[in-house]
Amino acid sequence: MADAIETKNLTLTYGDTIIINELDLRIPKGEITVFIGGNGCGKSTLLRSIARLLKPRTGAVLLEGSAMAKMSTKDIAKRMAILPQSPLAPEGLTVMQLVKQGRYPYQTWLKQWTEEDEEKVNRALKATGIQDLKDRTVDSLSGGQRQRAWIAMTLAQDTDIILLDEPTTYLDMTHQIEILDLLFELNEKENRTIVMVLHDLNLACRYAHNIVAIKNQKIHAQGKPEHVINCNLVKNVFDMECEVTIDPLFGTPLCIPYGKGRCIIKRAEVGNG
Ligand SMILES: Nc1ncnc2c1ncn2[C@@H]1O[C@H](COP(=O)(O)OP(=O)(O)OP(=O)(O)O)[C@@H](O)[C@H]1O
Ligand SMILES: [Mg+2]
Repeated sequence: MADAIETKNLTLTYGDTIIINELDLRIPKGEITVFIGGNGCGKSTLLRSIARLLKPRTGAVLLEGSAMAKMSTKDIAKRMAILPQSPLAPEGLTVMQLVKQGRYPYQTWLKQWTEEDEEKVNRALKATGIQDLKDRTVDSLSGGQRQRAWIAMTLAQDTDIILLDEPTTYLDMTHQIEILDLLFELNEKENRTIVMVLHDLNLACRYAHNIVAIKNQKIHAQGKPEHVINCNLVKNVFDMECEVTIDPLFGTPLCIPYGKGRCIIKRAEVGNG
């Protein structure tokens, strides 16, 4: 299958500090790809550079085969939406105003607000369950409500590629699963390419077609969850001891971390010795 996004020899830096080094990454079209890795390994930096919010030191990002550096911002925004980590809304902005900003790439002097814009906004509000909050200001919402408002803005943009940096942060268990199910459905039914950062390895395994584990400025491993996630990877990438078993409901890898300390049943006793 064609790649939605490809990075070629991509090096990302802040000042003289290299965060991502000469990265060649391919993100398949129509799949869910999840970036995993420890705090500070460069997941957000990579995601932001894929959305062209950060200029590469060297190398390029290709969007369906074309160099993004040469595209107009509006063209990119019609094809790719990004939910950054910890986004900030201007004070006093309402949820409705925020979600409507997702339609900005479609507006021109000649073609302003249309019924289609209205429909996309309402659909996004409904999908994220925040219709009742639409007149509240974003800064008055709880962390989870605010996160859903931002997700709604990203969905209202109605792009084939959706990038999300830790979309489940602040969400309770119910809303975590609801949002991930919603992204899964957008992928299944509408063939959208989803690229997201998740910290919960078990949810990553459940929802991802493709996992990209990042460590030491590079891809440490990439592939299907069942091929990538095992005790060794978790030890190498997160420096964490764990058991990896099979999720009884989904058949995907299920990681049970125990760190270096307390573990009541010894590994040998559960057949992993
Ligand atoms: N604007 C910046 N200026 C300088 N250094 C930065 C900047 N943003 C991030 N960094 C540094 O770059 C490294 C990678 O940061 P990044 O935010 O990409 O990590 P991450 O993998 O997303 O981590 P987390 O899981 O904590 O979100 C970190 O060491 C961070 O301190
Ligand atoms: Mg991050």
